[in-house]
Amino acid sequence: MDDNIKPVTLRTFQRMKETGEKITMLTAYDYASAKYIDESGVDSILVGDSVGMTVLGYDTTLKVTIDDMLTFTRAVVNGVKRSFVIADMPFLSYHISKEQTTLNAGRLIQAGAKAVKLEGASDFIIDGIKHLSQSGINVVGHLGFTPQYINTIGGYFIQGKSYENTIKLLQAAKKLEDNGAFAIVLEMVPEESAKFISENLNIPTIGIGAGKYCDGQVLVIDDILGKYPGNLPKFVKQYTNLQEIMKNAISQYNQEVKQGLFPENNHAFNLCAEEREKLEYSCNK
Ligand code: KIV
Repeated sequence: MDDNIKPVTLRTFQRMKETGEKITMLTAYDYASAKYIDESGVDSILVGDSVGMTVLGYDTTLKVTIDDMLTFTRAVVNGVKRSFVIADMPFLSYHISKEQTTLNAGRLIQAGAKAVKLEGASDFIIDGIKHLSQSGINVVGHLGFTPQYINTIGGYFIQGKSYENTIKLLQAAKKLEDNGAFAIVLEMVPEESAKFISENLNIPTIGIGAGKYCDGQVLVIDDILGKYPGNLPKFVKQYTNLQEIMKNAISQYNQEVKQGLFPENNHAFNLCAEEREKLEYSCNK
């Protein structure tokens, strides 16, 4: 570890909550992206199960397995020196028993993650979170729109849209906080509701489609880079168009190979003069 680099810890998250400094988080699934995110000073990297859609091309996150998450977590951790790496627990990896939840979370921690993220706040999930935090495994909660419950929710709907539902979300968030979660992702929640929830928690909220008053923000790397071929949700800001850049470069390569323009002399390895002469001599015999 570089002596000059101070890794982000749970204390950093808590300090930022207290001072009002915004927490930055992006998803990553591979070594190179993780390295660029880390070197850009982003505080935290989420190895999201969104990898199922962005990298594996699934239609939902439900098909992602713990083995998938272990591979992508290892790749990300290899690129990171400062950023706090959180790994998503995929669907079915924390739904069977406390023992299995701990085992799966523990494997992600052994892969190098500093914390795991779980969706929901049912009694069963809360029990699992309590068990994990008592076992020394850092936990991030995830409320609002929770993609692993897509079949129950029935679509990509904003959550907490009324006073009553905002209060329910706050109660769920409080349960997460009381049982050991150190941060909560709030997804697709009205800005006013997210503000109210954030102001009534001691732990930081990290918003995605939850407005500017959350303690931090998270987005999917493929979305901000314009790499994912699907539609972008309203809450995403696209900072570049990697899709266009990639397609241009790839079709240029394709054309140049077909036209014999690539490789050029400087892309080739050459024999020394003596060996070349021997080869030419044998060809001419
Ligand atoms: O999997 C993911 O990328 C996430 C973010 C949307 C928060 O959970």
